[in-house]
Amino acid sequence: MKITVHKGELRNSSTRAVVVGHFEDSKVLVGAASTLDKNCNGLIGELLKDGTYEGKLFETAVVNTKGLIKPERVVVVGLGKKGEFDPEKLRGAYSKAARTIRDLHITGFSSSLDFGKIKLTLDTVAESAVEGVLLGLYQFTRFKTIDRYQIRTVDEFIIMETDDESINVIETAAKTAENISNAVYYSRDLVATPSNEMTPTILADRARQVARKRNIKVTVMGEPFMKRLGMNALLSVARGSNEPPKLIAMEYNGGKKSEKPVVLVGKGITFDSGGISIKPAERMEEMKSDMAGGSAVIGIMMAIADLRLPVNVVGIIPATENLPGGRAYKPGDVLQSMSGKTIEVISTDAEGRLILADAFSYAEKYNPKVLIDMATLTGACIIALGDLIVGMMGTDEELKGRIREASEATGERVWELPLPEEYNELIKSDVADFKNTGGRPGGAITAALFLQKFVGDYPWVHLDIAGPALLAKDRPYIPKGASGVGVRLMVAFLRKWKIKK
Ligand code: BES
Ligand code: MN
Ligand code: ZN
Repeated sequence: MKITVHKGELRNSSTRAVVVGHFEDSKVLVGAASTLDKNCNGLIGELLKDGTYEGKLFETAVVNTKGLIKPERVVVVGLGKKGEFDPEKLRGAYSKAARTIRDLHITGFSSSLDFGKIKLTLDTVAESAVEGVLLGLYQFTRFKTIDRYQIRTVDEFIIMETDDESINVIETAAKTAENISNAVYYSRDLVATPSNEMTPTILADRARQVARKRNIKVTVMGEPFMKRLGMNALLSVARGSNEPPKLIAMEYNGGKKSEKPVVLVGKGITFDSGGISIKPAERMEEMKSDMAGGSAVIGIMMAIADLRLPVNVVGIIPATENLPGGRAYKPGDVLQSMSGKTIEVISTDAEGRLILADAFSYAEKYNPKVLIDMATLTGACIIALGDLIVGMMGTDEELKGRIREASEATGERVWELPLPEEYNELIKSDVADFKNTGGRPGGAITAALFLQKFVGDYPWVHLDIAGPALLAKDRPYIPKGASGVGVRLMVAFLRKWKIKK
């Protein structure tokens, strides 16, 4: 989609449709809506009087402008109550407006970002509006072959503005939002792609593809390398599959050479059947999304390189299938991980923590300033927090605080679960150092406690994204399916990395 900022008034815009917002508790039209209403002889204001439009949050109305202004249609979208207005509502409203435009078979629209007097800054408004439009219009159509002409797209979004200084602010913010949304799209595509088309090898190729033309270095390591380093936890998970596992490392150095990197580790199980501890068939197809942590890492690397953030970041993705082949690892097996620590396998379906354990050990070589992992790790986290909220566990208050701030800025919600020392009891093994499951109670927590055993001496945060990675229902600006969760969260976190430190 082409997003541009044009100098001029909304009524003169070249697109077939324009979008204006309305606050539920405002008796009159505000900002651009009010100006446009005057241009249209009060046509928009009539909506409010005749009671056909209440302006509830995300409620839309379409007005035919009958030749009074150049654009044929005005889409009015509810912004909710003025006092409650925030970036998240703006994203949702612009997503809804853009979808309404798409439903009308219109391929381009314009809008002004003047909502009267509000508390948000113009760059936040512009970023949120563009993000809402782009993220909300996402579609995964790669495998549709019949009637492709029926797939509707919106190709143009013009932001109208009269003030030169504001035009500059909006252009910069829009570009930022475009870069970030592009990375979210990329991440969503990886997750949505089924495992026959998204093997560890293909995932590694995608990482290479992202690095091409960007300031990112990619290294892909195969089995011989893993064997040499003693990555038996990762190798064991891979044994049941004929697809070779890959360890993907992406390095972006935007900061000073002397600065230790932020290391991001993403779980890259391209399909999780459960292995010998096989999962029930029902909804097993959703396990194509078990590489959502890894795909988030790829999206994050893409976005920060495009934004040229002044930070050093390493992304590490252990990638493999988890299948019950003839050589598959089995319950009862004892594995020696790269760290030297031994693990008794209780369930081959608790594979994520195994591949992450070795990836954490590998991360040591980068001398991390902090380590953050993202993983669709436990069903228990979905039980605890549902699919709206990411489970956050970690050892460092400052780091968790920064992630909370990024969460508030992006609307990618996180909630902390504790890491009580006492629960370490649950993952003690009789035959090895640890076992890979701690039973059902507190399953998200015991998984994180397991991971903690493999973390070096630096701040660490674990984000369990099992719930939000794949959505069963549409959200205001996240269509059902792969959400790309983690990308916007971590990019917001990294944009603020330098500040304060
Ligand atoms: N990938 C799953 C977790 C998952 C479940 C993600 C549902 C998204 C939706 C993970 O590998 C897994 O199977 N975890 C087990 C752990 C258990 C065996 C201790 C689980 O949560 O049931
Ligand atoms: Mn599993
Ligand atoms: Zn899994």
